[in-house]
Amino acid sequence: MLLPLYALLVIADCVAAFNPSGSYAPANVSCPEDASFVRPASGISESETEWLKKRHAITDVYLAEFLDRADLEDFDAQDFLESLNRSINVGLAFSGGGYRAMLNGAGQISALDNRTAGADSHGLGGLLQASTYLAGLSGGNWLTGTLALNNWTSVEEIISGDTIWDLEHSIINSGGINIFSTASRWDDISDAIQDKQDAGFNTSLTDIWGRALSYQFFGEEDDGGVSLTFSGIAQFEPFINAEMPFPFSVAVGRAPHTKIINLNSTVFEFNPFELGSWDPSLYSFTELKYMGSDVSNGEPTSDICVQGYDNGGFVLGTSSSLFNQFLLQLNTTSLSGIVYDLIYSFLTNLDEDSDDVAIYHPNPFLDTSYAALQTIVESEYLYLVDGGEDYQNIPFAPLLQPERDVDVIFAFDNSADTDDNFPNGTSLSATYDRQFGSQGNGTSFPYVPSMDTIIAYNLTEKPLFLGCNASNLTDLGTIPPLVVYIPNIAYTTWSNTSTFKMSYDNDERDAIIQNGFEAATRYNLTIDENWHKCVACAIIHREQERNNITQSDECAECFQEYCWNGEQYTGDETVLARSLNYTSSSNHEVSSISAAGADGSTSTASASSQSTSSSHNAAVSFGPSYSAGFIAVAVAPMIGLMF
Ligand SMILES: *[C@@H]1O[C@H](CO)[C@@H](O)[C@H](O)[C@H]1NC(C)=O
Ligand SMILES: *[C@@H]1O[C@H](CO)[C@@H](O)[C@H](O)[C@H]1NC(C)=O
Ligand SMILES: *[C@@H]1O[C@H](CO)[C@@H](O)[C@H](O)[C@H]1NC(C)=O
Ligand SMILES: *[C@@H]1O[C@H](CO)[C@@H](O)[C@H](O)[C@H]1NC(C)=O
Ligand SMILES: *[C@@H]1O[C@H](CO)[C@@H](O)[C@H](O)[C@H]1NC(C)=O
Ligand SMILES: *[C@@H]1O[C@H](CO)[C@@H](O)[C@H](O)[C@H]1NC(C)=O
Ligand SMILES: *[C@@H]1O[C@H](CO)[C@@H](O)[C@H](O)[C@H]1NC(C)=O
Ligand SMILES: *[C@@H]1O[C@H](CO)[C@@H](O)[C@H](O)[C@H]1NC(C)=O
Ligand SMILES: *[C@@H]1O[C@H](CO)[C@@H](O)[C@H](O)[C@H]1NC(C)=O
Ligand SMILES: *[C@@H]1O[C@H](CO)[C@@H](O)[C@H](O)[C@H]1NC(C)=O
Ligand SMILES: *[C@@H]1O[C@H](CO)[C@@H](O)[C@H](O)[C@H]1NC(C)=O
Ligand SMILES: *[C@@H]1O[C@H](CO)[C@@H](O)[C@H](O)[C@H]1NC(C)=O
Repeated sequence: MLLPLYALLVIADCVAAFNPSGSYAPANVSCPEDASFVRPASGISESETEWLKKRHAITDVYLAEFLDRADLEDFDAQDFLESLNRSINVGLAFSGGGYRAMLNGAGQISALDNRTAGADSHGLGGLLQASTYLAGLSGGNWLTGTLALNNWTSVEEIISGDTIWDLEHSIINSGGINIFSTASRWDDISDAIQDKQDAGFNTSLTDIWGRALSYQFFGEEDDGGVSLTFSGIAQFEPFINAEMPFPFSVAVGRAPHTKIINLNSTVFEFNPFELGSWDPSLYSFTELKYMGSDVSNGEPTSDICVQGYDNGGFVLGTSSSLFNQFLLQLNTTSLSGIVYDLIYSFLTNLDEDSDDVAIYHPNPFLDTSYAALQTIVESEYLYLVDGGEDYQNIPFAPLLQPERDVDVIFAFDNSADTDDNFPNGTSLSATYDRQFGSQGNGTSFPYVPSMDTIIAYNLTEKPLFLGCNASNLTDLGTIPPLVVYIPNIAYTTWSNTSTFKMSYDNDERDAIIQNGFEAATRYNLTIDENWHKCVACAIIHREQERNNITQSDECAECFQEYCWNGEQYTGDETVLARSLNYTSSSNHEVSSISAAGADGSTSTASASSQSTSSSHNAAVSFGPSYSAGFIAVAVAPMIGLMF
């Protein structure tokens, strides 16, 4: 049964981004000598440290260019950066929220990408190239994962091609009216899941979900990235050359046999080298490439290890596992094989406690010794769920670790918090609160406006800077990064589509992407021509503070315009009630644009005001051929609150 060891070595050596098995089934390989896969979370990994040296050489150059183009008064970017004894770290975070978050996020990231036409002249082009870290969660991780796992492709490249992000048909019904094509897709998915089971590994709905998503994100080649691994990102040239930021996917741990998720939950990050958590409840990282190996305290229990467990789609599916539940609307009578068995058993057992769970077995953290709590490390299984389930729908965690020393985080919030699917800053409060709990462990997050404040002062009408003044933050554990919060704002199309909208035609898709570009750039720098300057001011601010450099008048004006002044709203409720309706009040531009009937937004606008006036459940929208009933009952109450 076992391959001879030399054969295993040869296979392991020639694989690049891919599972040595060439399929979805994890593969046996020989263990590295003296292997010990787990380490305490006391710092960043050696691999990350080494990689950062290369990355900083590149971000320094791009940052200098970006700052130069901002044309700040009395400021020489080159001199400034050279005077520092470190590199400035910019972190980007993309929230969850299904395809709405993926597409708005795509437009937002394209506005920072100097590969996008127009990003240099009326956007923030080059900021992506100057960023050190890139975090995605749930729908946001579909975006960051698609880019990273496709050899660091660009949004513009994706939408000008026709191989990925074809969202016209939901994954439930991938062939559209061609039911044979749909059926054959499900057969392929079924075979892949069967392969993993045959190799002796447990599977869960998340395996099916991840496989199904993968065809949209990785195309038909390699059968929808069936053997593509997340750790394989480290084998792509743009990563090897550090020409892309360091990517994270964020998920949340769930204690075995419970459904409880709160700010005590363990937040996990996947990065190209490791999986793990900085939280005291685990405080460990494991080498991602060897996940799936039988280990105790991180040491293999035999000389046979496993590779290929960390399938790319499986990781992206884990971070977005709440959407697993869409699979339960699959027509089981037209399915066969293992997919039928799994869906059928969930439908009949109504095992609601685990239908959003990704099962990782064997648990790579079994019997490790660094965790303050035993819950995770004593279990044979590691259970991970959607990164947004703890209400922290923006993936801040990896970027707040003092060890990563991030100066500024650009936080793109495409959550659906309000009745009409716009963000209301809820996740900022969740992350703020967490620092004071037992899982905070030295991370800090700037003071945040209360929900009432955000609403009463219309704070999601434009970008918002938090933590502008470090001297105001000394009561916190450490000085946190400055946060540039950029909410979804509708300018040229109603970008507040339902979290449950599972299909988009290319026009809808591209319109939301364009709107995302506009939201990140203050409507292509037309609302504020100084926006690029103000972003530059935010980036250099922490280092200016550290070095006692007085802020220029120009930057002070920017901070006046964009920083939260610390004032909490204490006024009466009627103001809040009035402001609740974002669709009618906040988004002036799209209101006037749709009034003028431009961009075909009239039809989407009416769809949106429909959802405004209706309840959460009624706002759920599915592909035409599927009944909304089941999901409206089973899923909406859960997701509705969270995204
Ligand atoms: C992998 O190794 C395990 C023992 O560690 C064995 O049970 C299993 O059958 C092997 N799988 C393959 C595909 O060789
Ligand atoms: C992006 O910026 C780099 C560095 O200035 C430059 O070499 C490259 O040509 C730019 N790319 C585009 C598409 O403008
Ligand atoms: C804003 O810029 C983007 C990227 O160049 C472009 O696609 C979009 O049409 C512009 N929006 C407006 C309203 O001109
Ligand atoms: C990945 O992109 C780089 C350019 O950034 C290119 O040189 C390389 O051939 C690509 N690799 C693959 C596998 O497509
Ligand atoms: C979180 O954990 C702490 C310490 O274990 C405990 O005191 C607190 O009640 C927990 N909070 C929640 C919401 O479970
Ligand atoms: C499910 O699929 C079967 C076989 O393809 C078909 O006869 C049946 O009408 C389908 N049921 C629904 C509810 O679509
Ligand atoms: C803000 O969002 C949270 C979470 O989605 C929601 O519970 C709350 O009702 C929202 N508040 C307002 C005023 O929109
Ligand atoms: C973080 O947690 C670890 C493990 O519990 C502990 O050793 C460490 O001192 C904590 N760090 C801070 C800054 O609290
Ligand atoms: C918030 O927006 C509403 C509607 O545009 C406006 O009436 C109100 O004055 C604004 N509030 C503040 C504090 O700007
Ligand atoms: C900045 O000023 C403070 C207080 O005046 C001083 O303690 C600190 O050493 C100065 N830092 C630098 C880098 O000059
Ligand atoms: C900063 O500190 C001052 C003085 O304590 C306080 O008045 C102000 O509200 C604070 N600002 C913020 C943003 O916390
Ligand atoms: C929100 O505004 C829209 C458009 O003006 C209106 O149709 C809708 O009834 C309002 N909804 C609420 C809850 O006030």
